[in-house]
Amino acid sequence: FSLKAYNTFGLAIKAKSFIEVGNEEELEKVLRKVYSSELFVLGGGSNCLFTKDFDGTVLHLNIKGKEIVNETEDEVFLKVNAGENWHQLVLFCVENNYGGIENLSLIPGNVGTSPIQNIGAYGVELKDVFVECEAIHIQTLEKKVFTKEDCQFGYRNSVFKNEVKGQYIITSVTFQLSKKNHQLKTDYGAILNELDKKGISKPTIKDVSDVIISIRERKLPNPKEIGNSGSFFKNPIISISAFEKLQEKYPEIPSYKISEAEVKVPAGWLIDQAGFKGYRNGDAGVHKNQALVLVNYGNATGEEIFELAEFIQEKIKKKFEVDLEMEVNIIS
Ligand code: EPU
Repeated sequence: FSLKAYNTFGLAIKAKSFIEVGNEEELEKVLRKVYSSELFVLGGGSNCLFTKDFDGTVLHLNIKGKEIVNETEDEVFLKVNAGENWHQLVLFCVENNYGGIENLSLIPGNVGTSPIQNIGAYGVELKDVFVECEAIHIQTLEKKVFTKEDCQFGYRNSVFKNEVKGQYIITSVTFQLSKKNHQLKTDYGAILNELDKKGISKPTIKDVSDVIISIRERKLPNPKEIGNSGSFFKNPIISISAFEKLQEKYPEIPSYKISEAEVKVPAGWLIDQAGFKGYRNGDAGVHKNQALVLVNYGNATGEEIFELAEFIQEKIKKKFEVDLEMEVNIIS
């Protein structure tokens, strides 16, 4: 079974078998039959890189639907099933004037995978609106509700990438969204500039979403046109002393303070400075507008993209003494 249409890198890898489930009963049926060691759960396929064919069953979670589970005058609690497309959910919320996820416009992927890496952009992270998620244990079929605390969210991180990695399938996520007095986050430089340019001083959630969509369309390649997986690396967090050393050599290096002891530096900037922006080796490359994004121009293999990623890691280590960690899930 070809997975080409099911991974945003557009890799022509094959799986031994492929099963799509549309509801929890079907999911449980499959889990009873298939060995967990031979299973790979696929949501939107937007954060994975297969380096070779997959000798097992790919389970495509296509459970759709959403419902309001609670509502007050100010807020709505929306429970959304795992197979809903993330950006469609954002558009639905914007249309209904539910505030909280407008900054996360146009992030590829599905709702069910959004907590795993605590998706984030433009000053907002999933954890800011997350209430809880339901999940099913792959081996015991036990159902569990993970509260926000249980999830141990961090920067592009959660319990699902650590203690319980590979053990659960998230089936739904509940969000807490505002119905009025929206707390808009527009302090990210690029958003302010764009709102300014459009002469908007009192933005609505739709304005914020629209602006972010246009920024992303300008800087990030559309996976339907050029295969990619968004940011390929995490922005590294380094010690202040390491940062100060870098700053002496590169006074213009951007940074975000994390704590008294640490700063985050944009991996895109480092990769750009190392001369990789627009780099291409065969069909594997670095995007021309955002160096943090690796792309497949057509027929690159997962192995070729992975090799390019390792080559970049090596160069960045040599030039800046900084370790880049891959953000994308590598399946080898
Ligand atoms: N920069 C460069 N050259 C580049 C890319 C970036 O100099 O090629 C500089 C920019 O000028 C800017 C800084 O690096 O000063 C940061 O760039 P940008 O605002 O584009 O954001 P980022 O740090 O590269 C992160 C997220 C994105 C998210 C944006 C906006 C990570 C790993 N990535 O990127 O998330 O959309 O901020 O909030 O944290 C994703 O996870 O797939 C993703 C796209």
